[in-house]
Amino acid sequence: MIVSPSLLSADFGNLAHDLEMINQSKAQMLHLDVMDGVFVPNISFGFPVIKYVQQLCTKPLDVHLMIVEPQKFVNQVRDCGAEIMNVHLEACNHLDRVVQQIHDAGMKAGVTINPATPVCLLRDIVQQLDLVLLMSVNPGFGGQKFIPNTLNKVHELKELLKEKGSKAVIEIDGGVNDVTGSQLAKAGADVLVAGNYVFKADDPLKAIDTLVNL
Ligand code: DX5
Ligand code: ZN
Repeated sequence: MIVSPSLLSADFGNLAHDLEMINQSKAQMLHLDVMDGVFVPNISFGFPVIKYVQQLCTKPLDVHLMIVEPQKFVNQVRDCGAEIMNVHLEACNHLDRVVQQIHDAGMKAGVTINPATPVCLLRDIVQQLDLVLLMSVNPGFGGQKFIPNTLNKVHELKELLKEKGSKAVIEIDGGVNDVTGSQLAKAGADVLVAGNYVFKADDPLKAIDTLVNL
């Protein structure tokens, strides 16, 4: 399993320490949650923080934009050193164009859907995607409870990707722990995002290992 710990749950007073832990870990990416207080009812961090993280972190950056009008920020996300730029389907009027802009900027393109957004809305975009991110909580906060219907959506998405010949990987975000992670692995998820389960653990390296070995 590919694991992308979510920095949102890290200790922002000691980020360098937590990033060193990530560098030493078996996590294959680092997940960065950008929130604007409009698309979601919370504000997190922005580009100056991501730039700093990029200097200290040896893992590829998986940037999840929970913001309106993400198309305005493609170049800034690229300039922060992101490998993957995730935009919400619900935030894009011209999703196909945004995905092209992300690719033209040299990044991998991910599209994220909220728990109440059906997988079938991805039908005409999956062939262009490198990643689909299914939210397994309503976005905006770490530490929420996993929504079990996500497991059905993973099965449905897997079928859709097969039908369309898409190579996109399936990433899941919200309420992931050893139990829900194991259910997701069986359902066919490729990447697990985990915030609280990793950063609030007594032994974060062990928590990452547990998810990697699912
Ligand atoms: C939620 C964020 C998540 C969050 C996950 O809006 O997109 O990435 O950090 O946190 P946990 O794993 O604690 O649910
Ligand atoms: Zn996220």
